[in-house]
Amino acid sequence: MLITIVTLFPEMFPGMLAYSLPGKQLGNLWDLKTVNIREFSDNKWQKVDDTPYGGGAGMVIKPNIIHEALTDALKNYPNNEPAIINMTPRGRLFNNATARNLAEYDGLIILCGRYEGIDQRVIDHWIQHHNMQEISIGDYVLFGGEVAAMVIIESCLRFVPGIMHNEDSPEDESFCIKDINGSRVDLLEYPQYTKPVSWSGYDVPSVLLSGNHAEIAKWRIEQAKQITRSVRPDLLGH
Ligand code: ADE
Repeated sequence: MLITIVTLFPEMFPGMLAYSLPGKQLGNLWDLKTVNIREFSDNKWQKVDDTPYGGGAGMVIKPNIIHEALTDALKNYPNNEPAIINMTPRGRLFNNATARNLAEYDGLIILCGRYEGIDQRVIDHWIQHHNMQEISIGDYVLFGGEVAAMVIIESCLRFVPGIMHNEDSPEDESFCIKDINGSRVDLLEYPQYTKPVSWSGYDVPSVLLSGNHAEIAKWRIEQAKQITRSVRPDLLGH
């Protein structure tokens, strides 16, 4: 999978993506390129933005500059159609299902805005002509889309075959637990324990020491349901 980040701050990448399991496979199972929006500035001051029509605070990135930058990013994909994503708090809320879906693409282009925003016309154009999706990582506003891009890249890479040690693992974490009958359910993860059996007056639940796998599976699902009911009842449709 080739990921291209379109940003005013290419030096922020790969950043934390160079560590741990994603970092080990960077350049092997996945690759990262950046396109610097500023290189497409149309003036000698290297400015990319201007004041908003209608007035108001902040600056807006000009449509022609974003268009040129995205067109340049597309050149990295001569043989396939990447998913194109605009990171914005106005987008559809990101979740594990979206991560799984994006992981099926051979390529992703991620546009990271800054300042007050990007001229709407270039967004409309790329939605209409290139199927661009707008994604938010939560109901809060960041200074720009770069951290949000890293969040979605990390969660997508967990679904790219070979990146995790055990290919089953992303399917057995919070938001995706296998029920006793093997079907997938959206629940928060059950608690995990390791040695020692007793620590600081807290004991490992005895069922986990029983060796009875059916009982353990049942206990874990029950725990996951209980935790989900208590902190995220919305996941259960309540
Ligand atoms: N850019 C600024 N805030 C954001 C958010 N919550 N999600 C995605 N991109 C953003």
